[in-house]
Amino acid sequence: MPAPDLPDYAASLTQYHRAFGRELRRAVRAVPLPAGARVLDVPCGDGFYAAALARRLYPFGKVVAADLSDAYLGLARAEVGRWGRLATVEFARADAYALPFAADEFHAVWCARSLISLDRPVDALREMRRVVRPGGVVAVLEDDEYHRVVVNWPVGLELELQRAVAEASRERYGSRAGLSPARRVRRWLLEAGLRPGRRRTFSADRPAPFDGPTRAYLELHLKETREFVAKFLPADQLAALDRAVDPADAGSVFRRPDAELTCLTTLFLATKG
Ligand SMILES: C[S@@+](CC[C@H](N)C(=O)[O-])C[C@H]1O[C@@H](n2cnc3c(N)ncnc32)[C@H](O)[C@@H]1O
Repeated sequence: MPAPDLPDYAASLTQYHRAFGRELRRAVRAVPLPAGARVLDVPCGDGFYAAALARRLYPFGKVVAADLSDAYLGLARAEVGRWGRLATVEFARADAYALPFAADEFHAVWCARSLISLDRPVDALREMRRVVRPGGVVAVLEDDEYHRVVVNWPVGLELELQRAVAEASRERYGSRAGLSPARRVRRWLLEAGLRPGRRRTFSADRPAPFDGPTRAYLELHLKETREFVAKFLPADQLAALDRAVDPADAGSVFRRPDAELTCLTTLFLATKG
């Protein structure tokens, strides 16, 4: 159960950071930042990226971790407090559509996996553009649900799942691309007046037997996926999915010695001209 005031996805998001931290920190290191940079992380969520940015900037520079949620800001403070050798980190309760910062205040803005939560992504990106200095970077890390977690289960199940995800997305978000912000980020950046630059995809490959954090993440992810798509899967494919994800089933992804998981996320770098 998520803590009160945290969204339903909070547990799996934090577990995602635990499982794929090594690769996600690599994405943070791929953002061009001058020594002593001031960086805004918005929305900061549980603080995973704010800590990674502050570790990268140490001993100079500053990270401002901003979120609308007090509960998430509490988690972010605790996460940052766990680490030594960090650049200064400040926390701000802030609405991404009306950031309480001056124009041109930051060398860079970091925005991870939030453009689904921000239902007016172009307005949010315009606001990020406003607070970054000319020549500064807006770095967006985003996913596409159709490619995010790739498991080597049967092809028939994969095809049915993709179709069911499309239908479930259309029902919940009004669009089959509802859970696919990555394929729309470039357009949004352009609409927000930013100049899209490099795009880089980071992959995390995990073969069986899965380490503890990967397994815990996969369990949460598959449970969420099952809930999301169940009513759109034919009965035989739902049964196949249930077998594939049942740790008690010898053929499940948790027991098969040849199981493999790849997790993909893409970093989009854009500059303010
Ligand atoms: C999916 S989480 C991602 C958080 C973090 N960037 C990460 O990758 O772990 C989305 C975040 O957006 C925040 N949020 C939603 N609406 C917001 C708004 N209008 N302004 C600021 N933060 C907002 C939520 O509180 C949550 O922390």
